[in-house]
Amino acid sequence: MTSATPVRIIDGKAAAVRVRAEVKAAVALHTAAGRRAPGLATVLVGDDPASHVYVKNKRKQAAECGLISAHHELPSTTTTAELLAVVSKLNDDGAVDGILVQLPLPKHIDEHAVLVALDPQKDVDGFHPDNVARLTMGLAGGFVPCTPLGCLRLLDDEKELQLRGARAVVVGRSNIVGKPMASLLLGRDCTVTIAHSKTKDLAGVCRQADVLVAAIGRAQMIGAGFIKPGAIVIDVGINRLPEIDGRPGKLVGDVDWAAIEGVAAAATPVPGGVGPMTIAMLLQNTLTSYVRRLGIEH
Ligand code: GUN
Repeated sequence: MTSATPVRIIDGKAAAVRVRAEVKAAVALHTAAGRRAPGLATVLVGDDPASHVYVKNKRKQAAECGLISAHHELPSTTTTAELLAVVSKLNDDGAVDGILVQLPLPKHIDEHAVLVALDPQKDVDGFHPDNVARLTMGLAGGFVPCTPLGCLRLLDDEKELQLRGARAVVVGRSNIVGKPMASLLLGRDCTVTIAHSKTKDLAGVCRQADVLVAAIGRAQMIGAGFIKPGAIVIDVGINRLPEIDGRPGKLVGDVDWAAIEGVAAAATPVPGGVGPMTIAMLLQNTLTSYVRRLGIEH
């Protein structure tokens, strides 16, 4: 019996290293020319442990690329009005090119009011309705959310993959990943389906996909029956399995890697796939904002 062809790993960690090196080199050129460094402001409200880890990593990598990162940590009791005041200050601060308000916010805060209050030209997360509209309408000059932008970059690096005319299925309809991912793929002339938890025959829908993007947040839900032979699979999920013998469970994606072995052509691993790309694209978006705001060549 022959063993199944192993799935080729799409190495997001290595791709993120390349993007960060590009950002770092560009920042070095600007500062060598006597300009200020790009500024990224991070805002973290409350004590969600995962959000603290994410923001810490974002700040660390920003610093490594030569960006100035200013951090604002607010207690979970912060009101919408207090957070809006912080956003307003950052909007007015000339040294701040990018503003990142880490989501989710505590339940009592009006998230929409906060996102709408961001200066769209500093909205490096691409969550402001102006930027959402630009992406949906295919207009340049906005910002695209970092996770789907990172996924697209990984797909663009797949030399054998022809996105034009390909069937793409995005599982998950969040504003952060699913919807913007679908818009990006549509912009690349894919035939796009957005599937979700209420989709009938989800496996059958996914099996049509040349490109499958899984962003559901359900551990290892995508198995062999969901994969078209030869498909490219992008796994956005980060799920922690239940602890065993008091030890924390391991991190897994939405895709059951063992099950897709021999069916999919290539897939992003978890960890080391999409995750590192999200931060790299945040740094790239901040550099883009800086270049636009200063009116200089990239
Ligand atoms: N929470 C989960 N992903 C993101 C992201 O890309 N940006 C922000 N601000 N919050 C998030």
